[in-house]
Amino acid sequence: MFVEKMLQSQGFGSRKHCQQLIKSGAVAINGEIVDSAKLKLDLQQLQFSVHGQDYQYREKVYIALNKPQNYECSHQATHHFSVFDFFDDILMNRGIQCVGRLDQDTTGLLLLTDDGQFLQALTHPKKHVPKVYRMQTADPIRDEQLQQLEQGVELRNETGTFAATDVTRLAEHELSMAIHQGVYHQVKRMLAAVGNKVETLHRQQVGQLALTELAEGEWIYLNEAQIMAAKNMPNIAFASI
Ligand code: URA
Repeated sequence: MFVEKMLQSQGFGSRKHCQQLIKSGAVAINGEIVDSAKLKLDLQQLQFSVHGQDYQYREKVYIALNKPQNYECSHQATHHFSVFDFFDDILMNRGIQCVGRLDQDTTGLLLLTDDGQFLQALTHPKKHVPKVYRMQTADPIRDEQLQQLEQGVELRNETGTFAATDVTRLAEHELSMAIHQGVYHQVKRMLAAVGNKVETLHRQQVGQLALTELAEGEWIYLNEAQIMAAKNMPNIAFASI
């Protein structure tokens, strides 16, 4: 791939702008300033710099963010911040999107990508990728509520029933469970359907990828094993970040 095309693919702007960056001496490959936009590159393990800042070539990006409260998963956040505020223009130019949505008051594991196939694989209703949530509830969690959640509940304006797995009471007002679809406000509506109310909600895990170390507001690029774990591929090891 030509260096101008490579820069464009990584979010550095139009082809013209990338040509200008090269012409101005801002681009280096393996420490050597590039002077030709038509230099052909081997993309394997490619490292480059623009204005002295180092980058690694990535065909697609897969990002995990530990989302804080008061951030919306929309570009034009109305009353809060946007989760896209965490990312620079170069990543935004790549067209990263949220893989499913978390409510503004929900914290925890949020994936973002510019890979449409990955997004489909995780959000398509037929794929049933499990998502594990931990929550605090307004009222004490009763045994029959646990059973109802496991058996499945109906939600207004949705077809079928919605059941959770791995429903575990962690404390009188604290519960964790996995859901396998992703309809609007699903967890909050399921808890309301059994007569309780979610007070705080945290996503702990997507597929086999669990959030453990990443601090609130921090994000990382996922490696190959973590991407496979998030996709819930069979025989893939559990991964944590
Ligand atoms: N279910 C909800 O109710 N809210 C979320 O943010 C995610 C799942």
